[in-house]
Amino acid sequence: MQYYNIKSLLSSKSEIKNISTKGWVRNKRGSKNISFIELNDGSILSGIQIIVEQNTVKEEIMKMLSVGSSIHVEGELVKSLGKKQNFEILAKKIQIIGKSDPEKYPLQPKKHSLEFLREIAHLRVRTNTFNCVFKIRHEISLAIHNFFHDNGFYYINTPIITSADAEGAGEMFRVTTSDKKNYDDFKKDFFSKKSNLTVSGQLEAELMALGLSKVYTFGPTFRAENSNTSRHLSEFWMIEPEVAFADLNENIKLAENLLKYCIKKVIKNKSEELDFLNNRFLKEEKQLKEKERSDLSLIERLEFVTSNDFETVSYSDAFDILKKSKPNKKKKFNFLVENWGMDFQSEHEKYLVEKVFKKPVTVINYPKKIKAFYMRLNDDQKTVRAMDVLFPQVGEIIGGSQREERKDILQQRMKELEIEEKDLWWYLETREFGTVPHSGFGLGLERLVQFVTGMKNIRDVIPFPRTPNNLEF
Ligand code: 4AD
Ligand code: MG
Repeated sequence: MQYYNIKSLLSSKSEIKNISTKGWVRNKRGSKNISFIELNDGSILSGIQIIVEQNTVKEEIMKMLSVGSSIHVEGELVKSLGKKQNFEILAKKIQIIGKSDPEKYPLQPKKHSLEFLREIAHLRVRTNTFNCVFKIRHEISLAIHNFFHDNGFYYINTPIITSADAEGAGEMFRVTTSDKKNYDDFKKDFFSKKSNLTVSGQLEAELMALGLSKVYTFGPTFRAENSNTSRHLSEFWMIEPEVAFADLNENIKLAENLLKYCIKKVIKNKSEELDFLNNRFLKEEKQLKEKERSDLSLIERLEFVTSNDFETVSYSDAFDILKKSKPNKKKKFNFLVENWGMDFQSEHEKYLVEKVFKKPVTVINYPKKIKAFYMRLNDDQKTVRAMDVLFPQVGEIIGGSQREERKDILQQRMKELEIEEKDLWWYLETREFGTVPHSGFGLGLERLVQFVTGMKNIRDVIPFPRTPNNLEF
């Protein structure tokens, strides 16, 4: 008897006698004469219906077979009379693989809130919503690798344990094997150095690009920022391309092409999952106040991004627009836009994207004071060649820059920011031996998955989120 997963059964062309399949029971209903079981193995959203006629399966098995249990079904694949799908299974034999106590199983077939599902992250992957989210996350990851491979980039892996603070923000998780007594004596620690989990693979990616020309990383990144928002994780996945001989304009174009490519791939290859999430999105929108609703459905929003050019605007122009704007007659922004040099908050970013330009916006040439030491200084001496790509709903999705390739100016910037040269001697040497202009950026995978799936909270697009005070699973 041949074993099939449910997806391949449902795509078969004709009825087949004697098949076997396995999965988890989503629902069970019926009468004394006939029972209907909804079976799902994760391979296809709809799952398959199992029909059990009276006396084909022992009554004690039918009793044990409750929502959440895993079963092995043998039977015939027959044309379905119902409209929902083409085929169903007429069961001849059912074995319980793993029981599930119906009194205790938390995932009963009814609507659960996302907050509740977060508490049972070990089981939420069995719901349709998370099935779709994680399949789309997979599609995006694959698209990212394909995009870079097709464009001549090499995939590299940069260290996870490091002694550098690439972003200079100091939001690092310490890595140590020291006991309490020696905790502050870094010389006695495992690496004889203060070490931490990486906040970015950029500095090492730069070294690699200055030899391979085009590289990218795709790895986990850790930030100990204490921000409990719907867009921040303590552990997230970042994609960091780095290109030698490329200036900021080429960097901007690369970012736009990458984002459009990934979104198009999802539209093309994950239409069933997108439809499901689109309906979910529309239901959620209906519950919002009219003012807060977006004019576009989830799918329309994706198509809107893929079919329009992104806008590029300088920090100074964006600042002027925000300063003059009246987001709402009664209430201005929570953070007022008054002094040139301030960092934009997510309310400002969203306003620029959703109200002013109505498309993704790349803000460039930020004040040097609010950006990292490695960004290339502009001739005005005040701004750096930075770029942030801002998207609807999620705000900043990409942050990047052209890098400072001039050794003396880099040293000057490091001095201003009190970064010790001896800690980054290797970084400086790449500016001494055959330096070249180069650029790169970091794309937050979860922010992109959030945008594509329409999930409002970043905790719902990564299987097991790490956030302040939360390290379960
Ligand atoms: O803007 P960031 O901090 O840039 C860098 O780390 C650079 N070294 C990248 C580079 O040029 N190679 O982070 C890049 C992106 C952000 O735009 C955002 O999408 C995501 O990473 N990100 C986060 N995602 C989830 N949770 C967090 N706490 C994040 N912090 C940044
Ligand atoms: Mg940033």
